Amino acid sequence: MEVVRIIGGRSLAGTISISGAKNACLPLLAATLLTSETCTLRNVPNLSDVRFMIEILRHHGAQVVNDSPGTWKVTAADIQPHTPYELVRKMRASICLLGALVGRLRMADIAQPGGCVIGPRPIDLHLKGLTRLGCSVSHKNGYITVDATKAHGAYVFLGGRHGSTMTGTSNLIMAAVLTPGVTHIDSAACEPEVVDLCRMLQAMGARIDGTGSPRLVITGVEKLHGCDHTVLPDRIEAGTYLLAAAITDGEVTVNGAVNEHLGAFLDKLDEAGVSIDVINPASIRVRGDRSRCRPVDIITLPHPGFATDLQAQFSAMLTLIPGISLITERIYPNRFMHVPELQRMGADIAIEGPTAIIKGGVRLSGAPVMASDLRASAALILAGLAAKGETWVQRIYHLDRGYEQFDKRLASLGATIERLDASAMPGDYREEE
Ligand code: EPU
Repeated sequence: MEVVRIIGGRSLAGTISISGAKNACLPLLAATLLTSETCTLRNVPNLSDVRFMIEILRHHGAQVVNDSPGTWKVTAADIQPHTPYELVRKMRASICLLGALVGRLRMADIAQPGGCVIGPRPIDLHLKGLTRLGCSVSHKNGYITVDATKAHGAYVFLGGRHGSTMTGTSNLIMAAVLTPGVTHIDSAACEPEVVDLCRMLQAMGARIDGTGSPRLVITGVEKLHGCDHTVLPDRIEAGTYLLAAAITDGEVTVNGAVNEHLGAFLDKLDEAGVSIDVINPASIRVRGDRSRCRPVDIITLPHPGFATDLQAQFSAMLTLIPGISLITERIYPNRFMHVPELQRMGADIAIEGPTAIIKGGVRLSGAPVMASDLRASAALILAGLAAKGETWVQRIYHLDRGYEQFDKRLASLGATIERLDASAMPGDYREEE
């Protein structure tokens, strides 16, 4: 197993370019199953989740070829509908195949994903949506079987108790584009990644109106064709690098940070006193000066609200800013696994229900810490960059699911950070095997 070792205290400086978005790429790869023609995807990030999704497409019978770095060609001439538990268990996002299988084959047989460390991850809305379209949905032995032979366009209200659902919306869109009749989706997710999916489907011949709004109108077509699509930049990766600059009192230009994808996040960064220059619509420079920063209150919400996927990283910065900051999680009320680890580094944070109360202004000190999930790993590394002394982050396989060469790229901005074999850690720090 590998670990990341950081020696904190260096201000980051320079320019970094953002990769394609993981959370767009997974449904985009699934969407290639909607046609027998070849789809070319460009700007595909080299991440473990993406490599795994490619493995799943191959399992379904698609031919997947790596044309050049970041470019993949998928040809799904003949595919089968069964997605086994051993695949879904490894990556719950594989559920984004559901809509593509229903759209293309008029049937799916997919293992139901469980929850994960950030909390329960139900798919009731995905199934409600398909049922509204006239699909018959049955559960047996942990599998969901969908029969869409009688499906037709319909009105679907897709909102849930936490607002819209990203993957649920993507699944329903993929099912509806090849379902006869007109489907109205109300309370659809508006995340840029969902917009990117709509753009790719439109390029394949799908008829979708209202893209980017909570009201989508989809007119089913008989067939889709191949396409050539470039994945949009990863707004969460971009936000993470902007925070890395801010937390180290550094100055970093992030190319691929799309201003309009990061509205609520940039607003909070600005409110906290971080200096932000929007160089052009897809490039942002941040200059951090913690001595001028103020505490802020944040509530995570569906897009265009503050993204839950940037909550842990922002929390790491707020631990350093004098005063009390409040962070309320409205998407995943228990998504605070990073908190006990930040506490090990000296952070003063209390959790009250879905809210973290951060008494900022402490001096973090390096410590061995354990990453629990993707965004928590990034938060702990950011904390390590600002901490005094040496931080060792364990279980960094979580990090590799969603950040391409995070350690190397931070090093290129001047961070003292390296990836080592776990055996390099002082013995008493090491996790029991
Ligand atoms: N929800 C339901 N019922 C459903 C579906 C969702 O109640 O049928 C609830 C969820 O429990 C949650 C909220 O609705 O409270 C939003 O969930 P959503 O379906 O939007 O999440 P997701 O599509 O499963 C994606 C990202 C997550 C990101 C969330 C929220 C992918 C592969 N994952 O998950 O990304 O946190 O949207 O924006 O796109 C990450 O990248 O670290 C990550 C966890």
